[in-house]
Amino acid sequence: MSVHARRRQKLLDTLGDGLLVLPTAAHKLRNGDVHYSFRPGSDFTYLTGFPEPHAVLVAWRTGTGKHRSILFVMPRDKAREIWDGKRHGVRGAVQRFGVDEAFPIESLREKLPDLLAPHIRLFHTLGDDEELDDTLMKVFAVLRAKNRRRNPAAHPILEDPKPTIAKQRLVKDAEELATMRQAADISAEAHCAAMRAARPGMTEYQVQAVIEETFRTHGSMRNGYDSIVASGPNACILHYIENTRKMRRGDLLLVDAGAEVDSYTADITRTWPISGAFSDAQKAIYSIVLKAEKACVRVVQPGKAWDGIHKTALREITKGLVSIGLLKGDVAKLVKKGACRKWFMHGTSHWLGMDVHDVGPYEDADGKSIKLRPGMAMTVEPGLYFDPADKSVPKEFRGIGVRIEDDVVVTRTGHEVLTGGVPKEVREVEALCAAGA
Ligand code: GLY
Ligand code: MN
Ligand code: MN
Repeated sequence: MSVHARRRQKLLDTLGDGLLVLPTAAHKLRNGDVHYSFRPGSDFTYLTGFPEPHAVLVAWRTGTGKHRSILFVMPRDKAREIWDGKRHGVRGAVQRFGVDEAFPIESLREKLPDLLAPHIRLFHTLGDDEELDDTLMKVFAVLRAKNRRRNPAAHPILEDPKPTIAKQRLVKDAEELATMRQAADISAEAHCAAMRAARPGMTEYQVQAVIEETFRTHGSMRNGYDSIVASGPNACILHYIENTRKMRRGDLLLVDAGAEVDSYTADITRTWPISGAFSDAQKAIYSIVLKAEKACVRVVQPGKAWDGIHKTALREITKGLVSIGLLKGDVAKLVKKGACRKWFMHGTSHWLGMDVHDVGPYEDADGKSIKLRPGMAMTVEPGLYFDPADKSVPKEFRGIGVRIEDDVVVTRTGHEVLTGGVPKEVREVEALCAAGA
């Protein structure tokens, strides 16, 4: 069985009897005849690998416990392919993507009544794809009219398959982990290249170009998200993506960038002094974040609670701030009060995979933090950000923003850091920055 068929089988075994109807992502018009670049839906890619827009997967479990799957796709069309590019077509979908059958997407409405008729349950997420929702409503009406003598329900039992798909995607299989290692290696390489290249006088987007050129050179066709290249005070804007400032001597540069490989992304942040040496104030803050980050990575172990990572970050960051006099008092009490939240205002981790903030629950049904299991992949990314106008800290700290972010996978015996290829120790970072000078 192909990896996608294996994933479909597992999903349908969990969902039980019913018909799964899952579209890929929409191909959105930007303006005129220009579309935003197309990225297939993550759930759809996870279950089919099929890369083209205007495609729908229909799948169900058979009486023997196996499953059948059908792809509805854009048919071959010489004229359209001259304009828009080659298509796999109906035959290609079956031959190359291992589904049982394929049909032109235009025939979905006509085929769905027969496909749906034997099923009491429909696994479909309303609200994601208006056109498909509308098609299904019309299909319900057709079935209702056909069966009216039997006094049928207006529609099948509708169940959202997304939470189940998310739970399955949360634990990465071997193929996914191999791809994530590649994305992480390429991203680490790009961060190293940026550290060597960044100089005072360059503009942030020029560093972005170095990063993304390295992504492309090593086989990543797309970023996992817009690169954040934030120098000086811009590092205090958490999702800064303008990348237009000219960098100055003495600045810290915070870069948060990840390459996507075969639909899986890395998510790395490093912060470094572009002139090659941290100032005392920068080093003090950097060292606090680094110590916290390393302590958090150590928490990533099977059986540990997810929220233990963030609790560790809060404790370590608070301790660090007390040690340099920015907070005063008992660490436990300060943690309880959330005293550091003014300067460390985001979470410490999120799931990572096909989506940079990947799917998957953080709490179980009782609202308890979930326990880490082998195959779960996440970021660890504490930070400290002192707004340039923050009068509550001495002047030398104002405008400093530091985040350190690694990608970590839970293993059977502990964890694997995917992003160890880019340095984070003070001396190593300074040496790499100086290497390109
Ligand atoms: N790059 C987005 C994040 O770190 O969450
Ligand atoms: Mn992140
Ligand atoms: Mn990030």
